[in-house]
Amino acid sequence: MKLKVEFCHHLFKNPLMPASGPLTDKLEQLVFFNDSQVGAIVTKTISVEGARVNKPCIVNKGHGIFNTELWSEKPASVWRHEILEKFHPLKKKPLFISLGYTKKDMETLIPLFNPYADFFEVSTHYNMDELKGLVSTIRQLTDKPFFIKLSPHIQDYIDFVGTAIHYGATGVVAINSVGPTMAIDLRQRKTMIGLKEGQSWMSGAPIKAIALHRVAMIRQAFPEVPIIGCGGVERPEDILEFILAGGQLVQMLSHALIKGTDRYDQIIKKLPTVMEDYDIPSMKSLINTQLSFSNEGLNHYPSIHQEACIKCQWCVKSCPEKALFLDGYIQCKVDLCVSCGLCESRCPVDAIKGVLSC
Ligand SMILES: Cc1cc2nc3c(=O)[nH]c(=O)nc-3n(C[C@H](O)[C@H](O)[C@H](O)COP(=O)(O)O)c2cc1C
Repeated sequence: MKLKVEFCHHLFKNPLMPASGPLTDKLEQLVFFNDSQVGAIVTKTISVEGARVNKPCIVNKGHGIFNTELWSEKPASVWRHEILEKFHPLKKKPLFISLGYTKKDMETLIPLFNPYADFFEVSTHYNMDELKGLVSTIRQLTDKPFFIKLSPHIQDYIDFVGTAIHYGATGVVAINSVGPTMAIDLRQRKTMIGLKEGQSWMSGAPIKAIALHRVAMIRQAFPEVPIIGCGGVERPEDILEFILAGGQLVQMLSHALIKGTDRYDQIIKKLPTVMEDYDIPSMKSLINTQLSFSNEGLNHYPSIHQEACIKCQWCVKSCPEKALFLDGYIQCKVDLCVSCGLCESRCPVDAIKGVLSC
């Protein structure tokens, strides 16, 4: 009950699902997720023809995953006959079929996959005129809910989402990988992947903050629109943050590419305990909680709780004004402190209060 989410007239046993990508590109992978704890499944993006992808196309560098993948290398006919027809009688949870990209593609793809999808997720080209045609065509071809996936380089994304909803989309998935980006192999003096001038797209932990902001801004602009958050999820707390920002469901990919697909079930298993830690009785209550924005105007000095302080001095090293110092215990020169908040956010044991929190 605690983890359940009602979404577009479907019941999800929890909000986490894989994001579209190489972990859901085969029948065996769909079966794996069908038997796992995830609340739903999203396929790799399918188009009419199989993609021709230059290899290598996925690398991990630092905390990010860089990719130059396109849509699935299998054509729509293989997806229909070799994968989805076989998966359909086994399916135990909601299935999102991810499709791309043009209005003309949709005229072929939607009728082909309509019998197998609970939802469609659609990657788009990013000009507004094309978006209108694409979205209204999909709406004419299916009654099923469909979600437009937002690419983070779209600047006027509120307009983009508004147009998509106006022409018939059900909701939005935010966000896709961020780019163009570059991963460099210093030893070989070359970019690690990428066709044109080494450009690739980045996902994983470094994009979470961008994704959260997009989700929160879309939620503010469209209080009723269903939103699926995606980008940089690694821990149960990340799922909860996306829901507080305004999402109802959450997708994850890069972390599982780095750490393994058992991370989905591990994260779901930990969710109830983490929810208890943060006094969150249910997903439903969190979905109905309004995110409030910052502590503007507090302007308080850090108050150091000496009994909790472990004297690690992270706060001392981080203070840009050199206002904090250790002399037996951590102290603050209030005449130097500018109440920026960095010390409190750096404290590993929550021994500093008063600047960011009360
Ligand atoms: C290797 C790779 C392949 C991807 N392929 C697709 C795809 O086919 N369709 C799509 O909509 N998004 C695709 N994505 C984007 C992811 O679905 C997701 O939006 C993005 O990676 C952010 O989530 P994450 O940080 O949890 O990975 C791909 C991402 C990666 C890393």
